[in-house]
Amino acid sequence: VVDFFVPKVLAGRRLLITAGPTFEAIDPVRGITNLSSGRMGYAIARAARQAGAEVTLVSGPVALAAPPGVERIDVRSALDMHAAVMARATTADIFIAVAAVADYRVANAAEHKLKKDHGGVPAIELVENPDILAEVAALADGPFCVGFAAESQNLEAYAQAKRHKKKIPLIVGNLIQDGFGGDDNRLVLFDDQGSHPLTPASKSALATQLVDHIAKLTGSH
Ligand code: CTP
Ligand code: CA
Repeated sequence: VVDFFVPKVLAGRRLLITAGPTFEAIDPVRGITNLSSGRMGYAIARAARQAGAEVTLVSGPVALAAPPGVERIDVRSALDMHAAVMARATTADIFIAVAAVADYRVANAAEHKLKKDHGGVPAIELVENPDILAEVAALADGPFCVGFAAESQNLEAYAQAKRHKKKIPLIVGNLIQDGFGGDDNRLVLFDDQGSHPLTPASKSALATQLVDHIAKLTGSH
């Protein structure tokens, strides 16, 4: 990695970042999850590290190696991710929520494997998970918060509505048809000034553009 040449726009900044999906157990061998490769979040963690940040990556189950120099904390469920993030949020300067957190978990998860011969179709009861990003954004002395909005339509309206609802200064929007699972993505930044489309590129080039933008907004260079 030739990060020798990367400008250290986040030198000494502490970045906390979530990536990947969460997995909500139904029984010991089954669960509910979201589609997320983790690649965008891992690319941002890598770019921020190369830009000089101290990076802690709270990761749901993905098939990726931690970028060099990044502290990785593995979690499975949204509640695990919530606990790992809240324990570290007050010491972070910047929080980027890239994870595809399951909105609901199973209230009646079974301790043992469900069997087909036990009286018909099982009823799965769902209960809402905590909104990790909104909770971090509500902390009195919390970090600068960045959210992601992956939408299938109405990107600007939905992304800006999310930004206001969660009370965060910056949200990164993408259409799911542009990015899922692939190497490339198309991102649009939404803040108080309006929208700024980034140049469509590889996830790693986009991550560098995003890190530069966050460095400018947080006045660290
Ligand atoms: N997020 C989070 N915790 C949750 C749900 C979402 O931290 N329980 C974060 C995501 O990591 C992302 C942002 O909030 O940065 C938006 O997630 P998204 O699923 O698009 O928004 P929701 O508020 O859950 O709304 P909906 O799923 O209905 O679109
Ligand atoms: Ca959601």
